[in-house]
Amino acid sequence: MARILVAPSILSADFGRLGDEVRAIDAAGCDYVHVDVMDGHFVPNLTIGPPVIAAVRRATQKPLDVHLMITNADRYLEAYASAGADLICVHAEASPHLHRSLQTIRALGKKAAVSLNPATPLEAVRYVLGELDMVLLMTVNPGFGGQSYIHAVTAKIAALRQEITARGLAVDIEVDGGIAPGTIAEAAGAGANVFVAGSAVFGAKDYAGAIGALRAGAEAAWQRRAT
Ligand code: DX5
Ligand code: ZN
Repeated sequence: MARILVAPSILSADFGRLGDEVRAIDAAGCDYVHVDVMDGHFVPNLTIGPPVIAAVRRATQKPLDVHLMITNADRYLEAYASAGADLICVHAEASPHLHRSLQTIRALGKKAAVSLNPATPLEAVRYVLGELDMVLLMTVNPGFGGQSYIHAVTAKIAALRQEITARGLAVDIEVDGGIAPGTIAEAAGAGANVFVAGSAVFGAKDYAGAIGALRAGAEAAWQRRAT
């Protein structure tokens, strides 16, 4: 079974108490802290930049999974790496020189990932899979938390897992958007193993309970895959 990882998205946290919120998901057993960076150009929303990531870095030792939904990502890779990102994810749709971006991320000593929007075919990552630690398949259109899981992406998750297995690679598949107890089994059953959840964690009273329920749902689906 691939390692199941739960990555709460701080986009749904209370930004007025961000340090406390990050310490709370850390104590609640998250594996990664997922940080959504939006620029108002690639996606229709604006969020946070390197200084906030540096503040999150001071609140936890857990790996920071930084999802860049920005154009001109190359210009900022070093700033996000220095701010404390452990894993840096760029969007294929916003990266004209994707292979070079991934080489830069790795040269900075960070794990490299590529994200695909729901409508972007897997072909966009086929020739860079060997440069990757993770592929992030968006299961909503990026920009906002609290949207509904797009079921058409499930077939894309399955096709990617099949290709990774066939090529003998060790690449994680992360899904992001609309992941909740009611949808996680579908994504995990298709072969996703890293799960971003914003509203499903921060909208719950009990963060540990929410993270535990997601993990249990994903693990059960992976057990069924194996049998
Ligand atoms: C959307 C972001 C997500 C978002 C997920 O563009 O990339 O990480 O916060 O939120 P939920 O889990 O509420 O769909
Ligand atoms: Zn995200």
